[in-house]
Amino acid sequence: MPITFDSTSRTFHLRNDQISYLMRVLENGTLGHLYFGGSLAESGSYGRLSGGEYLGLSNRLGEPVPFEFPTAGIGDFRVPALTIEQPNGSTALDPRYASHRVFGGKSAIPGLPSTYVQGYDEAETLEILLADTPASLEIRLFYSIYADRAVITRSIRCRNVGSEPLTVRCAMSASLDLPDSDWEMIHLSGAWARERHVRARRLDAGSQSIGSLRGASGHEHNPFLVLKRAHTTEEAGEAFGLSLVYSGNFLAEAEVDQFRTTRVRIGINPDGFAWVLDPGTEFCAPEAVLAYSEAGMGALSDTYHSLYRDRLARGVWRDAPRPIVLNNWEATYFDFDEARLLEIATSARELGVEMFVLDDGWFGRRDSDASSLGDWTANKAKLPGGVEGIARQIEALGLRFGIWIEPEMVNQRSQLFVDHPDWAIGVPTRPRTEGRNQLVLDMARHEVVDYLFGVLSELLGKAPISYVKWDMNRNITEPFSPSLPAARQGEFYHRYILGVYDLYERLTRAFPQVLFESCAGGGGRFDPGILQFAPQGWTSDDTDAVERLRIQWGTSLCYPLSSMAAHVSAVPNHQTGRSTPLATRAGVAFFGVLGYELDPVALTDEERAAVSDQIDYYKARRELFQRGRLVRLRSPFEGGGNETAWMTVSADAKRAVVGHYRVLNGPHRSRERLRLRGLDPKASYRVSVWPAGDDPISAANSGIRGGDELMRLGLVVAPESPSDSRYEGDFTARLFDLEAEATARPNGPA
Ligand code: DGJ
Repeated sequence: MPITFDSTSRTFHLRNDQISYLMRVLENGTLGHLYFGGSLAESGSYGRLSGGEYLGLSNRLGEPVPFEFPTAGIGDFRVPALTIEQPNGSTALDPRYASHRVFGGKSAIPGLPSTYVQGYDEAETLEILLADTPASLEIRLFYSIYADRAVITRSIRCRNVGSEPLTVRCAMSASLDLPDSDWEMIHLSGAWARERHVRARRLDAGSQSIGSLRGASGHEHNPFLVLKRAHTTEEAGEAFGLSLVYSGNFLAEAEVDQFRTTRVRIGINPDGFAWVLDPGTEFCAPEAVLAYSEAGMGALSDTYHSLYRDRLARGVWRDAPRPIVLNNWEATYFDFDEARLLEIATSARELGVEMFVLDDGWFGRRDSDASSLGDWTANKAKLPGGVEGIARQIEALGLRFGIWIEPEMVNQRSQLFVDHPDWAIGVPTRPRTEGRNQLVLDMARHEVVDYLFGVLSELLGKAPISYVKWDMNRNITEPFSPSLPAARQGEFYHRYILGVYDLYERLTRAFPQVLFESCAGGGGRFDPGILQFAPQGWTSDDTDAVERLRIQWGTSLCYPLSSMAAHVSAVPNHQTGRSTPLATRAGVAFFGVLGYELDPVALTDEERAAVSDQIDYYKARRELFQRGRLVRLRSPFEGGGNETAWMTVSADAKRAVVGHYRVLNGPHRSRERLRLRGLDPKASYRVSVWPAGDDPISAANSGIRGGDELMRLGLVVAPESPSDSRYEGDFTARLFDLEAEATARPNGPA
């Protein structure tokens, strides 16, 4: 059994072969944290680690007792996990252990996405009840451990058991006390078109945090934080990950105290948050997923990838091969009619594309971004047969049909706004701020969510739509909902996201055959919460191959290949003006869910042949590119970022594809090597190079190579002869395809 309780020392031990998580009920009933890390023997005596014997002695105030769920006002002067304002205004809280239970499987969180199990034996859950009698508050802490994953999932629920309202001012999903501060904090930060760049900093005294106050997780920071040792690499060393299954305002923070211990916490951002807890009601905080690795960042990512791909994403598209789409956005923007779309789709079909996605501009009178959001009926001037007409014609071509929507938004120039001006978010006494000429609908109101469900159900119900790209192009300003009394306006942001989840839940349940892709001006809401409903997301509006190396590398720290939609677009690139070779654009976009975002009609015959070849190549390896184990080899965030390399490996290590990319070429280079990982050292691999060519690098690598050779000596990634460097050029990509021979080498390594 993964969860045990030693009633003598009152110690909880959650363990599997990879991790242990230990807590102890201290002498005074406070829950102390003992340990989270590599697996420990079940029978050890670990209570001595708690240091909580001194709790309650006034001359020991402020000592770094490791708390499991810290609160304010009782002598722990670090940041709390929970702050509850009580009827007398006090926020002091001292919850004590009351009881616990252990059950097989794991429970869902009402209204919120979370990881799940498919059988009760996949995981076990510990539920601990804490009570604070003076505050009339009960807190339930949930911890789940899977039998074979290096993660602990955590969530909390607070219940008011008194007769007067309480206010939840801060409810972190997880807080973790670590005994030292010798950590580097890794996080994913950026902006529109450069999302999720890897950032690293040494922890230092005080607080260091990332977060969002935008109403969405945002382009700027991602709800994901890693603490790793300075020497931890992709392959070796210790790392903790904290990831929040949530799409709204969040905070992830590490605090180093005066004794150089570290407290790290993650949850809903307390700034702007206040939840009124009426007597008898409960507040549920989102799930936090804590992962641990003592085998480097690569293993930490493996843990998140498989959990989020297989037990967070759900529905028929979770495991199904994802189609190769052609999206018309960069081909036409708003300027199209039915004939033009059919011309593009016909051309795309000839290249091997499987789905045509009609992006923005098909509805209302939408000829620019200034109007019509909210009017989800076809623009008959562009689509005389409506959505149904174009969808059926696309299907007749042998393609599936997908459509773009932005349900949470409204333009002032729209029928929806004329009919329901009060549905747009705004403070009645202030002007509303527009972003991209649009306002945000009040998803905290049930009638708004009901209305959208009705309109979108009609759309999806009457046309053969196989895919929905759900966009969200601005963040929230003037947060306020007339549906909430003044005292409850602090609930607004969270209620907004609950409304988004409710709409996603209802639509995905009603239309299980539809593949949903999330989008928010590119990757502005690319988080685990949305992944539950939309198993893939539009990774970024930036499709430049060089920029994508950084974006996809950073994203891959937490998110699986199957979640990253990656498209090949035209050059000069619409975001950077850069021209990279077509093969390089494809060589980057292959590592994820491939699509095209260009006008296929405008391609030359040579380019069409190349795209057709790319699509064939991808289809033959789709499983590897979408669901293989990603091994990161060379980081675009290190060593000047001129080189990147990664590979995807099948579960049995019999197949792999390595991608090697160089931004700028240099003169007179020779015999540079790239050592691979994750292969079978005893196997012989047939190596072939893509794009196929009569060049020295292809010649140096092609043929049969041992797994040991590929991992210890490596591939050759610069010409043997320095003078051949001149033929390489800038912005290069080479893919190395590895296929194990049926029989192992007779004289391979032991
Ligand atoms: C932002 C998205 O990221 C783009 O791909 C495109 O769908 C536009 N919105 C359309 O307005």
